[in-house]
Amino acid sequence: MESDFENRIVAPEYSAEDTDIEISLRPKRLSEYIGQEKAKENLKIYIEAAKKRAESLDHVLLYGPPGLGKTTLAGIIANEMGVNLRVTSGPAIEKQGDLAAILTNLSEGDVLFIDEIHRLNRSVEEILYPAMEDGALDIIIGKGPSARSIRLDLPHFTLVGATTRAGQISAPMRDRFGVICRLEMYTPDELAMIVKRSADILGIFIEDDGAAEIASRSRGTPRIANRLLKRVRDFAQVMGDGTVDRDCSRIALDRMEIDPLGLDSIDRLLLTAMIRNYNGGPVGLETIAAAIGEEAVTIEDVYEPYLMQIGFLARTARGRTVTPAGYAHLGLDMPGQQTLF
Ligand code: ADE
Repeated sequence: MESDFENRIVAPEYSAEDTDIEISLRPKRLSEYIGQEKAKENLKIYIEAAKKRAESLDHVLLYGPPGLGKTTLAGIIANEMGVNLRVTSGPAIEKQGDLAAILTNLSEGDVLFIDEIHRLNRSVEEILYPAMEDGALDIIIGKGPSARSIRLDLPHFTLVGATTRAGQISAPMRDRFGVICRLEMYTPDELAMIVKRSADILGIFIEDDGAAEIASRSRGTPRIANRLLKRVRDFAQVMGDGTVDRDCSRIALDRMEIDPLGLDSIDRLLLTAMIRNYNGGPVGLETIAAAIGEEAVTIEDVYEPYLMQIGFLARTARGRTVTPAGYAHLGLDMPGQQTLF
């Protein structure tokens, strides 16, 4: 269903269907990783320096919208440092004991990746701090007056934390990261390179125009670009000779109701609801959420970043507004602006 958020083809979140492609397409070294030049250049230096000193890399916080390659970067850091990668997430670590088990099982120098680190609960954060800072695990044995605390030494490790919401990370937590990298949305040129690289790995014939068409509709997000590539290939194989060219990409993407800028029906619904019901804003996030039947956090994390990136939506102190560019894209007139003829 088009309006079904869970199955939305342009959703930047990871879905089970992405597993096979993500694993085969994921770059393993920094040199293979396309885009995020700032983050990449800095990480390259920190990794080289840590290796020269034969130390583990400082803890790294990666933040930015979903689908931009945080897990991939964590894997690359581990590969470049020549250590293992352990992957978990904030919500998966429910109790102090869960984290203690993970930490005591690490080998010297390992990378521990915690996705959605802003969702760690306070009691878990408390034992993470000394682990990050002093490489020690403080555990309390027993209860009441006879309770005592013992300190276990942990192997050195690098925590790579990822979050879509840097603002929700507690200050003490943020302060314990030596390296903080903000990931940006990819440019269409970078996405086209990623699509061509992926096509190469998957054995798909693709023309530059075809890659550019997919790239421009992928909302700045490699995960979406790779997903669209797979779908467009289906059209190319059934309707043509299997080559992904511009025409074939256009037909396939139009059929999927993904417009030339990568907006899908929910993005358009959100903008039109704001325009039709609230004169294009300013309107509060909660009000928009109720109007289109989505959760406010979903709108904030998933829909807004791209709509703001392309300048269709603005956040103001009084709420969200649709910009003139947003109106123009939908072919609607802004209130108070007469069409000249
Ligand atoms: N696949 C997904 N993200 C990628 C990236 N940043 N570089 C190369 N291939 C990718």
